[in-house]
Amino acid sequence: MSVYSTILTQSEFVDKDSLSYPFEERGLQFGDGIYEVIRIYNGEYYLLTEHVDRLFRSAEAIKINIPYNKETMIDLLHQLIKKNNMTNDGKVYMQITRGSAPRDHIFPQDVTPNIYAYIQDLPRNEKTLENGVKTISHRDSRWENCYIKSLNLLPNVLAKQTAKENSCYEAILHRDGVVTECSSSNIYLVKDGKVYTHPTTNKILHGCVRMAIERFLKEENIPLIEEAFHLEDIKHADELFLSSSTSEITPVIQVDHVVVSNGEPGSITRTLQKAYEQDAKITKKLMESI
Ligand code: PDD
Repeated sequence: MSVYSTILTQSEFVDKDSLSYPFEERGLQFGDGIYEVIRIYNGEYYLLTEHVDRLFRSAEAIKINIPYNKETMIDLLHQLIKKNNMTNDGKVYMQITRGSAPRDHIFPQDVTPNIYAYIQDLPRNEKTLENGVKTISHRDSRWENCYIKSLNLLPNVLAKQTAKENSCYEAILHRDGVVTECSSSNIYLVKDGKVYTHPTTNKILHGCVRMAIERFLKEENIPLIEEAFHLEDIKHADELFLSSSTSEITPVIQVDHVVVSNGEPGSITRTLQKAYEQDAKITKKLMESI
């Protein structure tokens, strides 16, 4: 999907082809930065406040001082959509690094963070939302602070690539058999009418869609148990689903060779998908096409 031509850099709007960085840039050399991916439906951000809050949390955690406040950030992101006359379904990618400076592990003095954001079209993936996806299990070899949305994604990239090479959509990550999340999404198991997922510790990213799911479950009176489940539990699961800004709420129908809920998306997953569509004010409903 091509990138819309006007991008945000620092607090200015420029043509995307005019942006370049020095080769001594902390994001490039150290992965010393943070990012967000925010969903857009019909030219409107979904869960924007949640994402901006998380961006500032991540920045604080790695001691990057964002040079403007949350309100300005939200305003700039709205302007980005307006300046591109974007009215489609899409996403914004926003990245903030510590800045450009001669390579040295120690933080440079008086450096300005490099900030940019760009938008792209991203149609909803109706096929995977309707039919569900196959996954693999994969060792979680990441660091201890996965709640920070850091640019250091090498273990995630390698896990996702292994999934792809096995004709799968996602890699479900585990530490000694304890399921944490996926390479780029959160994961949930349904058993006897209850939804289980890893608690929001530093071992996982605290997903914005997960926050919305917590609301939907409350509204539907479906208990959410914030307890990690094990790979072994998947064999006896009634349903499994994953969530992220790009994947929304996607049913998982297979993990390695284990088929979940007879290979069909389950009813709690469907209820949550409907709640998501309502909450995100999605006009073209998935369920109508099933
Ligand atoms: N990924 N866990 C990980 C490791 C993620 O990278 C993501 C999001 C999530 C879900 O977070 P949210 O619901 O806020 O999108 C969980 C984005 C989409 C990405 O890196 O492209």
